[in-house]
Parts: sequence; structure tokens; C-alpha cells
Amino acid sequence: MLKVEGLEKKFGKNTVLKGVNLEIKEGEITVIVGPSGGGKTTLLRCISGLTQPDNGSIIINNKYLYKDGKIAQKKDELEIRKDVGLVFQNFNLFPHMSVLENITEAPRVVLGMDIEEAKNKAKEILGFLGLENKQTSYPFELSGGQKQRVAIGRALAMEPKLICFDEPTSALDPSMTGEVANLIKKLSLEKSMTVLIITHDMAFATMVAHRILSMNNGILKEEHMYM
Ligand SMILES: Nc1ncnc2c1ncn2[C@@H]1O[C@H](COP(=O)(O)OP(=O)(O)O)[C@@H](O)[C@H]1O
Ligand SMILES: [Mg+2]
Repeated sequence: MLKVEGLEKKFGKNTVLKGVNLEIKEGEITVIVGPSGGGKTTLLRCISGLTQPDNGSIIINNKYLYKDGKIAQKKDELEIRKDVGLVFQNFNLFPHMSVLENITEAPRVVLGMDIEEAKNKAKEILGFLGLENKQTSYPFELSGGQKQRVAIGRALAMEPKLICFDEPTSALDPSMTGEVANLIKKLSLEKSMTVLIITHDMAFATMVAHRILSMNNGILKEEHMYM
């Protein structure tokens, strides 16, 4: 599903990724744990096509997004990036758009989907997420957990094959940890999603993961912890 080979990234003199290798199988929930500043977000941004690595390759669904640090052909880039959904640490919802508009925006603008089709799909996703009664609400009217579910809905609307979460428990009350873990497991079971999570929350990681890796100082290591 996802293969990362020898990924390197520097910001100025700061080498953040030092030859990262990673392979993720379809349907797996993989969690990368590690301290702040270890390069976890940078890795996720490279996999989502938001940050270009200096070297190394990223292969998604047998297609190169980056090969030896170079971007895939422009026409293929969008096609490949579409397969990866990212749920940001602070959710990044569009504040001036309703829940329904937040979810229909990318399918309409990026995929050119018909508005009625986009709305029907968004309603189905909101049902799955238990938010059917929040369609017309705005982000400021939602709790943190609800905002996160809208952010997940926005990612799902693009029908990704891989969904990535950056610190999904960090913006929420600690009492929400179990609920977030259950929702991610439901994505894996009922939507057959492949999931990649980065977190510094070890308790959460053990709740949700099939497999845990650790990232420290730009180096990724297998923890040999299979749940
Ligand atoms: N856009 C950027 N410009 C410069 N430095 C960055 C940028 N993004 C991240 N960094 C640096 O890269 C290192 C790793 O950051 P990050 O990937 O966010 O780690 P983590 O998510 O594990 O906390 C940090 O030292 C951070 O300051
Ligand atoms: Mg981070």
C-alpha cells in the first residue's frame, strides 16, 4: 500500500529525516510514536505530498509520488495524492463554511463532482461518523471531538486508500482517547481503510495499533510490538 525508501529531509542545517524506510500493508493500523521534534510530522507531510523530501522515494499503491527526491509527473501527482487523506493536528476546518460545505468542498473543487452528488456522499459520511444532525453547524459550534470527526469526514470524501492522523489525541480532552481509538478502528473495520498515525501518546498507541514503530532523531525503528 505504502512504501517509503531512504527518505531524507533537511531544513537548513537541521537534518530531520535521516533515511527513513517504512512499509505499510493494506488494512493495517500503523502507529509511529516518538518525542516532539523527532520528525514525525515532517514524515507525514512528505507522505501526503505537502513537503518535498530532499532524497528518497515514496510509493503509494504501486505508484511513485517521489522518486529519488523528485516529484512524480505533474499529471500523476494529483491522482496519487488523492489516495492519501490527512487529518491535521488542529483539524484545519474552514471556519466560514458549514459542516456540509467543509466536506463537499474538495470533491467539488478538486474532483469536479456535481454538487448534489457531493452532498449525498457527505450526508452518508456524516451518518457513519454520527454527525447527521450537524450538517448546517459551523466549526465554532462544535466540540473538539466533533470537529475532529468533520476533519475525518473531509478526508473520507476524497475516498483515500490511506488515511493519516497527526497527533489525533493532542487537541482533545484525555477522556476522549478511547473514543478516538474506537472511531479509528471502525474506519479500519467498516471502511477497510489503511491507517497511519503519529503520536507521542503511548497509551493511545497501544489501544489502536496493529503495529507500533518509533521515530527518534529522524530515524524510524520497528518496535516489534504487534497487538
Ligand atoms: N517548515 C519547517 N521549517 C524549518 N524547520 C522545520 C519545519 N518543519 C519542521 N521543522 C523542524 O524539524 C524538526 C522535526 O519537526 P517535526 O517533524 O514537526 O517533529 P515532530 O512531529 O516529531 O514533533 C524540528 O526540529 C522542527 O523545528
Ligand atoms: Mg508533530
